[in-house]
Amino acid sequence: MLAPIAGFTDSPYRRIARRHGAGLVVTELVSAEGIVRMNRKTRDLLGFSDEERPIAVQIFGNGPDIMADAAAVVEELGPDMIDINMGCPARRVCASGSGAALLLDPNKIRAVTESIVKKVRIPVTAKIRIGWDVDTLTYRDTVRALEDAGVSLIFVHGRTRAQQYGGRADWNVIREIVEMTAVPIVGNGDIRSFTDAHERMAFSGCPAVMIGRGAIGNPWIFSGRTPTSAEVITQIKEHLDMMIDAYGDWGIMLMRKHFVRYIHAFRGAKKIRKEIVVSNDRDEIHEILDSLISA
Ligand SMILES: Cc1cc2nc3c(=O)[nH]c(=O)nc-3n(C[C@H](O)[C@H](O)[C@H](O)COP(=O)(O)O)c2cc1C
Repeated sequence: MLAPIAGFTDSPYRRIARRHGAGLVVTELVSAEGIVRMNRKTRDLLGFSDEERPIAVQIFGNGPDIMADAAAVVEELGPDMIDINMGCPARRVCASGSGAALLLDPNKIRAVTESIVKKVRIPVTAKIRIGWDVDTLTYRDTVRALEDAGVSLIFVHGRTRAQQYGGRADWNVIREIVEMTAVPIVGNGDIRSFTDAHERMAFSGCPAVMIGRGAIGNPWIFSGRTPTSAEVITQIKEHLDMMIDAYGDWGIMLMRKHFVRYIHAFRGAKKIRKEIVVSNDRDEIHEILDSLISA
């Protein structure tokens, strides 16, 4: 499954991940308050196409009422699931009691989740971390609260909030969670290859795993295939064209961070990287990319 990465796993990239075999994709976190007000930015974040299915829309917020209202609006858009963000470590998000801050309050987790489960007909999932910091590993209470509230599945990122994205994900804890609950658990954290994914599933007993950073610039991680240089170039060009379709010329700017991830392992990448991230011209970028294969 493709993990949500804000700013990267938008509709074009989710389609690419599905084409390469990702079993489920998730939108980046979308604010429940934003959804209820439904401004332009929120509408863009919530957009998806049928090709992305099955897709979960991820929402964040801090109260049972606002979250249930947002979930009802989201359900109308027709996603396959609604996911509750309980892992975002950002100060701005946690300060309002949302994201990873929920991990400190199992009663609130129960209330928020229950209100959403009651409000919508589609499955409700949650994406959690294992705790706030090493001294506050809250996963047992979190998982019990989610179970009580009736979630259909839990994504577990094996880090604490304090770790942010550093250190290592703790797959021993993920395995312990699989053993303590009947709710399906999808493990997440530090999967860098197709082989890693299968090793982590075997180790933890998770029926599926979720891949974030390891999938950026490498959608082949979902199939286990090693692409030829020509295939990589074709994929980048197609991705660029999908970005332009989705965002107009702004899509070229947004594509720059993806270029770097796709080409970092190529011979001659350094030189063309400089050219490619300053070009605003689709045809010129295609030519620069083609020069990589002949290099
Ligand atoms: C830049 C960035 C943005 C992220 N955005 C989200 C998000 O919107 N929602 C979410 O649940 N997790 C988000 N995550 C966390 C990832 O989904 C994932 O749990 C984490 O990166 C660990 O998995 P990985 O090692 O496979 O990347 C984000 C991570 C990064 C690095």
